[in-house]
Amino acid sequence: MTISVTEAIRTRRSTRAFLPTPVPEGLLREILETARRAPSNSNIQPWLAHVVTGETLARLKAATAARSTVPPAFDERPYPIYPDPPTEAQEARRFACGERQYGSRGIAREDVEGRLRYVYNNHQCFGAPAAMFLFAEPGDGLSQWADLGIFLQTVMLLLTEAGLGSIGQISWSVFNRTVKDVLGVPDRLVLYCGLSIGYPDPADPINAVVADRAELSEFATFHD
Ligand SMILES: Cc1cc2nc3c(=O)[nH]c(=O)nc-3n(C[C@H](O)[C@H](O)[C@H](O)COP(=O)(O)O)c2cc1C
Repeated sequence: MTISVTEAIRTRRSTRAFLPTPVPEGLLREILETARRAPSNSNIQPWLAHVVTGETLARLKAATAARSTVPPAFDERPYPIYPDPPTEAQEARRFACGERQYGSRGIAREDVEGRLRYVYNNHQCFGAPAAMFLFAEPGDGLSQWADLGIFLQTVMLLLTEAGLGSIGQISWSVFNRTVKDVLGVPDRLVLYCGLSIGYPDPADPINAVVADRAELSEFATFHD
């Protein structure tokens, strides 16, 4: 059964609890075959994707688990992940996003260790059996980075169409060295984000969390 683009956009949401059911590699290949049609400035197609399943993903999860210490021992992030400075609206949305997730797991704001342990679920792919890591070349500029985002959303919508859940994960940047080591990725490449992929666990309430959005009037201006 195929769904419309509108349906895919409306029903996609970040999955934070996956079933262990494997995702066939053939399906992931098919999705990337289609996603390569994503547009990019001057057709540069700056995306570099590593798709990871099976034994390699198990090794990556084990390597990051070994680094998931309290207090944390994070790698330097390869690029700043938040606006500097954020606007008031951006800051409020970022805050609400954190509260929604920690709240859904009953983790209090003051529980610094609990929050850290929650963050480490990212590096176990929230139980997902597949992941994709997107890299940029060091010479890529803002336009190429925007193109990476277009590619990422294209992949996520195709995954939705295929009945799969996913979640973009910038949190992998704190272990970007481990990702590169395990996958044998050249050191010059910059990790943009991870994307965990799998079948959503319908029984886990975290997957029912719906993130709100700003009203049209807050971000769009129409001129006639
Ligand atoms: C590039 C990118 C990176 C993200 N990184 C993380 C992450 O590291 N951990 C996480 O839990 N969610 C992450 N998210 C998910 C966002 O929090 C989520 O998209 C947003 O709250 C809107 O919710 P929705 O995807 O369910 O609509 C990321 C999303 C994107 C697009």
